[in-house]
Amino acid sequence: MTVKTGIIFITLALGCLAIPTPKSEDLSQFFGHEDFEDSPDGRIVGGSVAPSGAHPWLVALTTGSMVRSFTCGGSIISQRTVLTAAHCIDHLFQVGQLTGSLRMTAGSNRWNGAGTTYFVTGNATHPNYVSQINKNDLAMLFTMMDIALPERVRPIAISYEYVGAGVMTRVAGWGRTGAGAPNPSRLLQIDLTTIDGERCERDVAEANEKWPNMRLPHTESHIELCTFHSRGRGTCNGDSGGPLVRVSSGKQVGIVSWGFPCALGAPDVFVRLSAFQSWIEKNIDECEYEYDE
Ligand SMILES: *[C@@H]1O[C@H](CO)[C@@H](O)[C@H](O)[C@H]1NC(C)=O
Repeated sequence: MTVKTGIIFITLALGCLAIPTPKSEDLSQFFGHEDFEDSPDGRIVGGSVAPSGAHPWLVALTTGSMVRSFTCGGSIISQRTVLTAAHCIDHLFQVGQLTGSLRMTAGSNRWNGAGTTYFVTGNATHPNYVSQINKNDLAMLFTMMDIALPERVRPIAISYEYVGAGVMTRVAGWGRTGAGAPNPSRLLQIDLTTIDGERCERDVAEANEKWPNMRLPHTESHIELCTFHSRGRGTCNGDSGGPLVRVSSGKQVGIVSWGFPCALGAPDVFVRLSAFQSWIEKNIDECEYEYDE
């Protein structure tokens, strides 16, 4: 890049300069959240090992200074922006700041493997996120450095087309292989078929009657997208934040959000990206540098 004499105008979009000061973190709080037993966080059960390089847009979110702990998945949607679930970062945000130990690793099929790790310099959480009922569960994380794009790292395109029933989708994650099971270090993936919104609302209401102790929310099909495979196959704790990808186009249509832990025979629920186009387009950090001579 040649910069000639004259004034250089650098245009930085939201998030580029937001650098939180690292602070000491409260590990107990984090581990408290890691108690997935009664958490409705999205979670892959009954999947298969993902071929290496099959999900080049996927990042692993981790925290911890001495021992790294896996938190969630996320998807690279620009060289400065990762899309994830709001509930993935909600508990990492204290006294107005994200924990200084939050990192994102790209380019590895192991969450603790040899990928490239990035610091997070800021976030945007959807203003209508409601943690109690997991609604509008989406957030963006920004990096200060451009995410490098070697062979196995690449942003994913988002499709804002409305997704109906019977669409084949794929999800990958380091989530548990069963409620209470450990997080696998190798990335797993599974293909899931979308179901009709009304059916999802009905099936989730029935599941809530069947398992009242889980106290899970209802679904709202205009902002949430559901899949169902079969009992014993689906998402599980730790898959949250990862992208739901339409197999025919390879574009992201959803974010893993929540479900009945895990693969109990109820639908898995995702953020429906087609409902959030303006918020995503407004907040995505393209960080274009304009040089004026
Ligand atoms: C960052 O995340 C926290 C926790 O979810 C949220 O309270 C805060 O509003 C977010 N910041 C922005 C700019 O959205």
